[in-house]
Amino acid sequence: MSHTVIRSKMRKTRLLMDDPIISRHVPETDWFSATSLHRMLRKYSTVYIKPDIGRKGNGVIRVRKINDSESEISYRQTSVRCATKNVVSQLQKIQNSERQYIIQRGIDLATYHSRPFDVRVVLQKPLNRWHLSWVSAKVAPHKDAVVTNVAKGAQDVTITKTLRKLDQRLNVYRVLQELIDVSYQTAQILGAKFPLKIVGLDMAIDKRGKIWFIEANTKPDFRGLRSLDPKQYKRYITAKRLIR
Ligand SMILES: Nc1ncnc2c1ncn2[C@@H]1O[C@H](COP(=O)(O)OP(=O)(O)OP(=O)(O)O)[C@@H](O)[C@H]1O
Ligand SMILES: [Mg+2]
Repeated sequence: MSHTVIRSKMRKTRLLMDDPIISRHVPETDWFSATSLHRMLRKYSTVYIKPDIGRKGNGVIRVRKINDSESEISYRQTSVRCATKNVVSQLQKIQNSERQYIIQRGIDLATYHSRPFDVRVVLQKPLNRWHLSWVSAKVAPHKDAVVTNVAKGAQDVTITKTLRKLDQRLNVYRVLQELIDVSYQTAQILGAKFPLKIVGLDMAIDKRGKIWFIEANTKPDFRGLRSLDPKQYKRYITAKRLIR
């Protein structure tokens, strides 16, 4: 069966949320509504609101609780404070009314030189088994950045360099091992449901070292990565040739 691109974030996330083993690595996710927003803000200090079908960090909004009654909405380069009861009406000014949004528990990302990062993990299935081709970090341009997309100014950094200079004191060997384990399991679950040959996972390490799934791209972008790590790049190209 040939590879298919699955665009809906909710379709992929729900499948993982329903898995008894991997669900503990998936941040709670729901369709965005006034009800889900207030329910999630009661439980979590930060939530992310994202277009169900979106790319490159476009339209991604972060809402943080400041105190009992106030919140901060961050979008692109700006942040505004407002009463929590008015968050929905403030969001309507930024959201595209023609798009469906999901709401997700915010993960407190680990930092490298005070900049939050997430991890790009690419797996490929040239024959009938998933192979890990690529792992690297995407480091946000500054400490308050909402997203860590390279299209929004983040920088690709090798995972060894990132973990060596982490601001948090974590057992990096254990963290990397778990990151790889969770990534394989995620690819397996997604690949059992959808006809996939390649998957680019956005994985997160939180400040306490826990591994989280953020998003799965079924058409990962490799632009600019060749020079970052030629060895891993070759692994990707070799598998890609077998898939074609
Ligand atoms: N729940 C979350 N907690 C913390 N950060 C998040 C969360 N969701 C998204 N982010 C940040 O926003 C970025 C973009 O989110 P996401 O990957 O879900 O959307 P996208 O990049 O627009 O879509 P795609 O990955 O399909 O291109 C992530 O790389 C991460 O930096
Ligand atoms: Mg992404």
